[in-house]
Amino acid sequence: MSLSTPARLFETATGPEVSVGGRHYLHFGGTGYLDIQRRSELVAAADQALRQYGLHPATSRLGFGDSPPLLAAEAEAAQFFGTEAAWLLPSGWLGPAVLLEAQHRPTDRLYLDHDAHFALRDAARLTGRPCHYFAHREAESLRELIRSTLAPGERPVVLTDGVFAVHGRIAPLRAYAGVLAGYAEALLVVDDAHGFGVLGSQGHGTAEHLALGAQPGLLVAGTASKALGGYGGLLTGPAGEIARLQAGSSVFAGSTPPPAPVAAATAAALRIARLEPGLRTRLADNIAALRRGLRGLGLAVEDLPTPMIPLVLPDGAAMQRLHEALRGDGVLVPYLPRYTGLGPHGALRLAVLATHGPEQIGRLLASLQRHL
Ligand SMILES: Cc1ncc(COP(=O)(O)O)c(C=O)c1O
Repeated sequence: MSLSTPARLFETATGPEVSVGGRHYLHFGGTGYLDIQRRSELVAAADQALRQYGLHPATSRLGFGDSPPLLAAEAEAAQFFGTEAAWLLPSGWLGPAVLLEAQHRPTDRLYLDHDAHFALRDAARLTGRPCHYFAHREAESLRELIRSTLAPGERPVVLTDGVFAVHGRIAPLRAYAGVLAGYAEALLVVDDAHGFGVLGSQGHGTAEHLALGAQPGLLVAGTASKALGGYGGLLTGPAGEIARLQAGSSVFAGSTPPPAPVAAATAAALRIARLEPGLRTRLADNIAALRRGLRGLGLAVEDLPTPMIPLVLPDGAAMQRLHEALRGDGVLVPYLPRYTGLGPHGALRLAVLATHGPEQIGRLLASLQRHL
């Protein structure tokens, strides 16, 4: 059965309120945490770029596929992250694979968090090297696994999400760096799709939140498609490093880059994210308020600075019923029957945005209280 039934189709842009299947809902879902995606600045930028450049260059970047909006988006990304350069990829999914394609060696052995995102798993598989899974967020499990499996002459490569997509926990990157300090040239590859734009005083993500500083072997991939309000994967760093990645990448050589209107809108989104830091403050306040409110209902909700909160009931039918009961009250909270990091029945994935108001959070909590 197709999941794309009319009851699941958004008829409006995503945000705190949406229209689905002809009905208006208060919406607590998705990943546009700063609620930038639907802003008029993006619409104007995309419209102008579409008229000037058409949809896309119909060739890869190696074959004259660069467009001014694409370079503008990359310049904005570099400015947001305070780096010399950035690369806007056709999707965030590709980031870990691009990093590993450039860095991995025939002597690598890969270690992934048990709950690592699909994108990291696929990237790891593409290397063709052995993969092991350590206990979720357990540096000691990682240490022991490396100790018991790494052969002489091999190099450990650790892969983890920065912020885990559904349960919102943060990887202990400092502890992993400590484990890897004993291995020459080890790599720590972080998929920070959900940390970018959310964590850290500048919104630079998990490494900034953890005050990790420059670490040898630390490689971070992220996305503009979630909190930052644009579209496309993001790699950032020194100009020479980004150029080196592009020079060796099959994606750079063989894939059409993000379309010009998308790139133009992404440049506008990144500018908003940089010039309106108050959005991050409002998001942080809403995260704290919702987590407090849920604990007030007796739910075991962790005190984390991340906007996604899973609601897990004993079985899928119970979660589908809760999803529908909330919908009956005009509140839309997506039920994910499966995702990396979730148990066999999935979870309702609550996400709060910077632009939810206290009254809206109150309505969600009241509806949950009625139906839990
Ligand atoms: C942890 C993680 N990595 C990568 C991706 C893929 O990013 P994008 O949607 O930009 O392709 C996602 C998207 O859900 C994600 O949650």
